[in-house]
Amino acid sequence: MDKFVIRGGNPLLGTIKVSGAKNSALPCMAAAILTADEVVLENIPQVRDIETERNLLTSMGAEVELGYGRAQHRTSIQCAVLSDPVAKYEIVKTMRASSLVLGPLIARTGIARVAMPGGCAIGGRPIDLHIKALEQMGAVITQEHGYLEARAPRDGAGRLKGAHIVFDKITVTGTEDILMAATLAEGETLLENCAREPEVTDLAALLIAMGARIEGAGTSTIRVHGVEKLHGARYRINPDRIEAGTFLIAGAITGGDLMVDCCDPSHLGSLIAKLEQAGVRLDIGEDSIRVRSEGAGGSGSTALKAVDISTEEYPGFPTDMQAQFMALATQSEGTSTVTENIFENRFMHVNELIRMGANITVSGRTATVRGRSPLQSAAVMCSDLRASAALVLAAMVADGESILDRVYHIDRGYERLEEKLRGVGAQIRRMGDVFGKR
Ligand code: EPU
Repeated sequence: MDKFVIRGGNPLLGTIKVSGAKNSALPCMAAAILTADEVVLENIPQVRDIETERNLLTSMGAEVELGYGRAQHRTSIQCAVLSDPVAKYEIVKTMRASSLVLGPLIARTGIARVAMPGGCAIGGRPIDLHIKALEQMGAVITQEHGYLEARAPRDGAGRLKGAHIVFDKITVTGTEDILMAATLAEGETLLENCAREPEVTDLAALLIAMGARIEGAGTSTIRVHGVEKLHGARYRINPDRIEAGTFLIAGAITGGDLMVDCCDPSHLGSLIAKLEQAGVRLDIGEDSIRVRSEGAGGSGSTALKAVDISTEEYPGFPTDMQAQFMALATQSEGTSTVTENIFENRFMHVNELIRMGANITVSGRTATVRGRSPLQSAAVMCSDLRASAALVLAAMVADGESILDRVYHIDRGYERLEEKLRGVGAQIRRMGDVFGKR
């Protein structure tokens, strides 16, 4: 298993580029199921979850060519024949977002078999809201041997029926899954209490390019007029706002001067507001943000200041930035509180940060961080994608050489993180399994 070795102390200086958004690319790849034509996606990030989704689609009969390194990371997907409309447990267990194929599969083929995802490191993460919505659209869903089988109603020539769906709770992939299902349903579907994340808007833009009739994506009410067929399209995935946010904090925590390039600042409003409150200098351009800070070395007006954050659905503060912001809070002057409202168990990074010298206590959903702790290097364990990013940030300001184990979590969602950070002055390298595989 690969590890990262990180020596702290270097400010990040220069320009770092943001890749395409993993959480947009995943539903967009699933959307290709909705047509027999070729769908071409540009700016697909080169991360493990994308490879997992490729395997998922090819196991169903799709042809997928991941065009890494080619112009724009162009990827082509063609689901001419879906001979095996099944999302197998072996794949679903490694990536919960696999359940995104449920809606498009049943819409296109009238039947879907999808392994039930189990719990995961950050919480229970059920898919009951996807199921309930599909049932409202007439799907008959049964569960057997750990798999869900969903069938389109028999009386509608194998098509789902438009429905009025009000999500009990805001769910990102739930909104995306049902949005995809509704594009090919008979009649109109009205979705309320939808997720407003930019990734939903990204997916809707692709679906519209494929011929879908959708209004209101990016608001909490989405109206879909079902069509009989969708066609191929070419679409460019938006920049990854969480990767961009992670780099902004990397610049701030290391006391750097970093240009975060190829991002969309309009997707980063709540993080920008909190960073500015924390005393970080940001110059916001059209598709870049320059971040400047004195890091923990600042004093007076240049000191990093404690700020409270509380995660919420978009446009609130993203849960996917909570761990990284907590790393920053360990270096700020004063006491910050960090409240996690989206997932019940997303504080896995806390104990590792404490092992590095952070002063953090957790009570229920809130962590209290007493700042300006000098961090020391340590051997630490990555537990999930964003928790791991927080440990990378902490290690970049720790005294000495830290070793981060299980960096496969990072590889799931950050494209060549160590190369990008090394390019702006971080001392970070990847170390393979020295004993190899038996
Ligand atoms: N929920 C239910 N029932 C459902 C669906 C969700 O109770 O049927 C609950 C969840 O348990 C959670 C809340 O609703 O408490 C929100 O979950 P949501 O469905 O919005 O999360 P998700 O769609 O599974 C996506 C991202 C996550 C990100 C969350 C929240 C993708 C592939 N994943 O997950 O990203 O944290 O939205 O913004 O888009 C990551 O990239 O590291 C990551 C975990």
